[in-house]
Amino acid sequence: MATIIDGKKVAAEVLSECSEEIAELKSRGITPGLAVVLVGEDPASQVYVNSKVRKCAELGIHSEKIILSKQTTQEEVLETVARLNADPAIHGILVQSPPPPQIDEEAIVRAIDPAKDVDGFHPENVAKLALEDPTGFVPCTPAGCMRLLEAVGVETAGAEAVVVGRSMIVGKPMALLLMARGSDATVTVAHSRTKNLAEVCRRADIIVAAVGIPEFIRADFVKAGATVIDVGINRVEDQSTKRGYRLCGDVAYDEVSEKAGAITPVPGGVGPMTIALLMKNTIKAARAIG
Ligand code: GUN
Repeated sequence: MATIIDGKKVAAEVLSECSEEIAELKSRGITPGLAVVLVGEDPASQVYVNSKVRKCAELGIHSEKIILSKQTTQEEVLETVARLNADPAIHGILVQSPPPPQIDEEAIVRAIDPAKDVDGFHPENVAKLALEDPTGFVPCTPAGCMRLLEAVGVETAGAEAVVVGRSMIVGKPMALLLMARGSDATVTVAHSRTKNLAEVCRRADIIVAAVGIPEFIRADFVKAGATVIDVGINRVEDQSTKRGYRLCGDVAYDEVSEKAGAITPVPGGVGPMTIALLMKNTIKAARAIG
């Protein structure tokens, strides 16, 4: 049976570091501030946005939650971003993804001041990640995955890592982090057009699943003893629950946990780490901007 990687516990460690850093910043008269913008009414996004704002309150980070209707125009979102760029009480700006279809998300991300782009999605921060420039912001979810690997003592140097998924939010930055100097993994990025995916995954000492398909990674994709990081948070219909759905990852947990050396559960794995790293990035922004 695999070791279960406790994301809540590791996130609590990160958050305790955050508390110390916030106290130090406040002693210098700086209160970190995060603005979270939600356009539309996507229920999962509402949950994420609320938990981000709640975490800010717990830590003593100033936060502003901006809810815009699902009919909001591109110009209105751009005006909101411009106002937040100019607001000295706000150090981090996050526009929750995905926005409604009339919104050009890429243009919104480019409008965010890169110094306040705590999601790490602005082209300047993407470039800094590729360049291994530590002044940039690393996207929170892959940064959280790296921290989990570190916390459980998984050796990445020389390891075969397979990242399943090539999104800008997770797959691509995850691959860059794993291959970066210091991490030194040999990285394969697999995606929907990859041939013989199960065979490719079976090479991996480390699998990062970020495809957004429930229970896509099965036991026959996994080498015995491999470390499996499950980034998926999928809602699958389940009438036996009160909400009518349950959450499951991109990994078939029951069968894969029989074979893997270590595995993250869903929920309680990567999820809590994403928020913790968002708090870290907000503190980093506050430190840099002042
Ligand atoms: N939607 C899913 N993950 C994320 C994230 O890390 N940041 C933002 N802004 N939206 C998301």
